[in-house]
Amino acid sequence: RDSHDIRLAVIPGDGIGSEVVAEGLKVLEVLGLKVETTTYALGAAHYHATGETLPDETLAELRGYDAILLGAVGHPSVPPGVLERELLLKLRFELDHYVNLRPVKLFPGVETPLGKARPEDIDMVVVREGTEGPYAGAGGVMRRGTSQEIATQESLNTAFGVERVVRYAFDKAMTRPRRKLTLVHKTNVLTYAGDLWARIVERVSAEYPEITTDYCHVDAASMFFVTDPQRFDVIVTDNLFGDILTDLGAAVAGGIGLAASGNVNPAAPGSASWAPSMFEPVHGSAPDIAGQEKADPTAAILSVAMMLDHLGLADESARIEQAVAVDLVERQVDWVSRTTREIGDDITARVAG
Ligand code: NAI
Ligand code: MG
Repeated sequence: RDSHDIRLAVIPGDGIGSEVVAEGLKVLEVLGLKVETTTYALGAAHYHATGETLPDETLAELRGYDAILLGAVGHPSVPPGVLERELLLKLRFELDHYVNLRPVKLFPGVETPLGKARPEDIDMVVVREGTEGPYAGAGGVMRRGTSQEIATQESLNTAFGVERVVRYAFDKAMTRPRRKLTLVHKTNVLTYAGDLWARIVERVSAEYPEITTDYCHVDAASMFFVTDPQRFDVIVTDNLFGDILTDLGAAVAGGIGLAASGNVNPAAPGSASWAPSMFEPVHGSAPDIAGQEKADPTAAILSVAMMLDHLGLADESARIEQAVAVDLVERQVDWVSRTTREIGDDITARVAG
């Protein structure tokens, strides 16, 4: 089979999810690649219509694609936790997306709440652990609804799980000019888990003498995201810390409309532990603006670029990033309000050349 063929599963999802994914696919189409897409209706609307979140047969089919592109799922009418646990987290766990990759990069011309920050000051990648920590679903509740209620939510950290994501982060740091890795945790209070993370980072760092290794508590890191973002290059961190920190990252780098992410299974294609990785904008389904053509599709388009990079199509990925960079400069200089579709059309035209 042609190595440049991509068999892609698309989960447009709810609200603006399907609106922004349509623009991402438009960009993908003009790259001259042979792409075969199959759309899967999953999410809040599908749940209301069928009672299904992620049927086993669908999960089994999804395993057969090269990659998955997701818009966003969710609606206030679905009880909290249902789609998160039974669809999103299930996909991450079942497909072993142990790396949640979230670049935090300020493009030239983009406004940041950090008034004086320049693009070279905000250019990092957060490698968030994706399958363990407080998100593992370990815990329980007793005497619910009474004044004696007890709820526990444990953080699970395995030596295997921590080491593999730490190794990925070191390898990622090797591909970047600054070659710096910062572990973000809370080792002074979360002493058991923190000790495991710190020891593994220290042990693995011996194999990467070219990398400068640093440590930062998560509370201090939150402050430095705002006051001194230059200090970060690659960050490796726990599932929960990474979730929170990357929303802050999205905010300082120009907002949720620009933040892309990958749920990555880094195993070699063909190996037993391989499964398709899933790329998605960080934002949700935004019911407040859904159906109004107000959503910025840039995060979804940049997620497509991340996907191509993951699939070994670095040139095509760079073409998209370049086109987005130009578009972002022009939106500041000559700002007119464009619809979701118009932004997608403009970026597509630039990619097409
Ligand atoms: P949200 O990200 O959907 O929206 C937060 C705010 O940002 C809203 O004011 C929205 O209008 C704005 N916004 C988001 N994306 C935008 C874009 N591309 N362009 C312009 N403005 C944008 O987060 P919220 O409101 O907390 O969640 C809404 C629903 O999405 C919930 O059901 C939630 O569970 C779900 N969700 C799903 C995610 C996923 O599928 N991975 C991730 C986050 C939330
Ligand atoms: Mg989040």
